[in-house]
Amino acid sequence: MRVLGIETSCDETGVAVYDSAAGLLAHDLYSQIDLHACYGGVVPELASRDHVRRLLPMIRAVLARAGCGPDAIDGVAYTAGPGLIGALMVGGAVGRSLAYAWGVPAIGVHHMEGHLLAPMLEAEPPAFPFLALLVSGGHTQLVGVQAIGVYELLGESLDDAAGEAFDKAAKMLGLGYPGGPEIARLAAGGDPGRFRFPRPMTGRPGLDFSFSGLKTFTLNTVADYAGDAGIPDAQTRADIACAFQEAVVDTLVIKCGRALDATGLPTLVIAGGVSANRLLRERLEAALAPRGARVYYARPEFCTDNGAMIAYAGCRRLAAGGGDDLAIRALPRWPITSLPPPGATP
Ligand code: KG4
Ligand code: ZN
Repeated sequence: MRVLGIETSCDETGVAVYDSAAGLLAHDLYSQIDLHACYGGVVPELASRDHVRRLLPMIRAVLARAGCGPDAIDGVAYTAGPGLIGALMVGGAVGRSLAYAWGVPAIGVHHMEGHLLAPMLEAEPPAFPFLALLVSGGHTQLVGVQAIGVYELLGESLDDAAGEAFDKAAKMLGLGYPGGPEIARLAAGGDPGRFRFPRPMTGRPGLDFSFSGLKTFTLNTVADYAGDAGIPDAQTRADIACAFQEAVVDTLVIKCGRALDATGLPTLVIAGGVSANRLLRERLEAALAPRGARVYYARPEFCTDNGAMIAYAGCRRLAAGGGDDLAIRALPRWPITSLPPPGATP
């Protein structure tokens, strides 16, 4: 089965063609980062308009690169949520309409299920069951995964998501958006021994997260060292970035260990934009090795938003006989635990 995947939930237009036998045939991504940079974050209306501009030419180009015309496509998968309503509507309207015109089924894919399954695109995919740490700009969740669509939410952030915390800390340090890669870059020149930031909610039992206190701690530290210049000197900024990254990574590693203990699951999958973080990958690998447990993740370009993960997730569900009615689905809020197993329409 060959599926066209469309991702437009936020500020990236992603398009891909995935073939269940041959794998990923082609994919392309257009990031709107430059468009939103001067506003310090994503402007939803601008995001929707840009998806309108980019999507159809990208679909044409990706189909050409995949070497297939519309007649070789067996289904269309588009991100139906969660995300920005206008941005979702663009991908949904285009995806559902193309499927109707081509006479093939369409399916609205859950964005976080797309992230969760992205490591399956790699040469050595993880086997079910596994524990998933979903860490993106909008979500921080620990999910017990028995199979596709059989999810148990074990813990989640009570306030900011991990990626959101990276983005806000970056802003405090005068860095650009998205903040995760910028903090990681600055932290490389920082002294890990200078500051120690709190590891929120690790001192008591439970698998939930909270990053808003860490955000305030970072803001206070920046203010303490700002001086007359209004911003700490370059070395202090690097030391703060380093301490912040250490605190977030340490917190995530502690909770993953705890969740593996609680569930007895043998494997960890990390997914979403923050799973591209090198320190997080290294620390998880080091923490899991003595347990004989393995950590799986996608290549960096498939950790952040992309069309390939949507094509893949859609293909798995469509191949099992799933498929939506003619409605265009756009669900800004959509709990991952409400998804049914493949074969049923959510
Ligand atoms: O999954 P994603 O592309 O979009 C959402 O679904 O939200 O995640 C974006 C988030 C941003 O907050 C970004 O700062 C963060 O992922 N991120 C990183 C890194 N690369 C992206 N955070 C830490 N380290 C990175 N290398
Ligand atoms: Zn995402």
